[in-house]
Amino acid sequence: MEQKLRQLREESLDAIREAGALDALEALRVKYLGKKGELTAVLKQMGKLSAEERPVMGQLANQIREELTEAIENGRKTLSEKALEMRLAAETTDVTMPGKAVQIGRRHPLNKVINEAKEIFIGMGFTIAEGPEVELSSYNFDRLNTEEGHPARDRQDTFYFDDDDEVLLRTQTSPVQVHVMETQPLPIRIISPGRVYRKDEVDATHSPMFHQIEGLVVDEGITFADLKGTLNELVHRLYGPETRTRFRPHHFPFTEPSCEVDVECFECRGRGCRVCKGEGWIELLGAGMVHPKVLEGCGIDTEKYSGFAFGVGAERMAMFRFGINDLRLMFENDTRFLEQF
Ligand code: DAH
Repeated sequence: MEQKLRQLREESLDAIREAGALDALEALRVKYLGKKGELTAVLKQMGKLSAEERPVMGQLANQIREELTEAIENGRKTLSEKALEMRLAAETTDVTMPGKAVQIGRRHPLNKVINEAKEIFIGMGFTIAEGPEVELSSYNFDRLNTEEGHPARDRQDTFYFDDDDEVLLRTQTSPVQVHVMETQPLPIRIISPGRVYRKDEVDATHSPMFHQIEGLVVDEGITFADLKGTLNELVHRLYGPETRTRFRPHHFPFTEPSCEVDVECFECRGRGCRVCKGEGWIELLGAGMVHPKVLEGCGIDTEKYSGFAFGVGAERMAMFRFGINDLRLMFENDTRFLEQF
């Protein structure tokens, strides 16, 4: 029996020393020290020994059990320490590694320029108004003094939702003027940026959906000089104080007198080039003194009040502002273009 015990001891201590993982150690503990383990099996045979041999073997067996227990405990400690060390080594952060670049989005050039315009007008005491993109034709046309039969009302000009031509996609932001005059107390000083729709083929300067910024001022004693001062301020703030403007007579049904405002070409500064088609000027907006019929249609006393209005093409504003030569770029969402602003 003694030989058996000593052999078991050699064998088990070797195995424990070589165990490379915690679960392997646990398996060895069960194999040797468990209820059905090998050492336990030897001890069960103690009864067969003589009275003199029994205490000697008993002592040896206990000593081996202690040795094995201790060896397993030590092995467990070493292995856990090693595992921790490895984990720490694997998880260290190399602070010298370059970070992962975060892609930060940018504002669209159109929104940039609209925000700039908002800031400029808010600074002059304007507030921002909103109106619907799906509009009644009475607001889009009739109440803006654009009666039945006017060429702008052509069925080809926009999208109508019904056979009676009563509901349409607005072709201009001007109907917001009527909404505001109906609902807001005087004096009025608003701008209203938003989308408008026209049946246009897409090319470098046209899109069936584009943006306008409408403006409306109604108060006592408003004159064309106020219109000029306000729009010159806008142009100078957007394009620089030396930028010249040209107020050219024009016709709009809802203003009288009406004008179009041109800005000195950003490319050639008025000398004439490809961008301005040799003109030296580029058209930026339409404007005028609000037609008395429009004011009266909203119940405003034209003996006491007068007003001016304007409508700027926002895409044009952005194109001049950033030197963009093709409108389509603004709607294609190509990040190589968008990340330049
Ligand atoms: N609505 C006009 C257009 O789309 C622009 C315009 C012209 C707006 C004169 C106005 C204005 O408010 O007074 O061409």
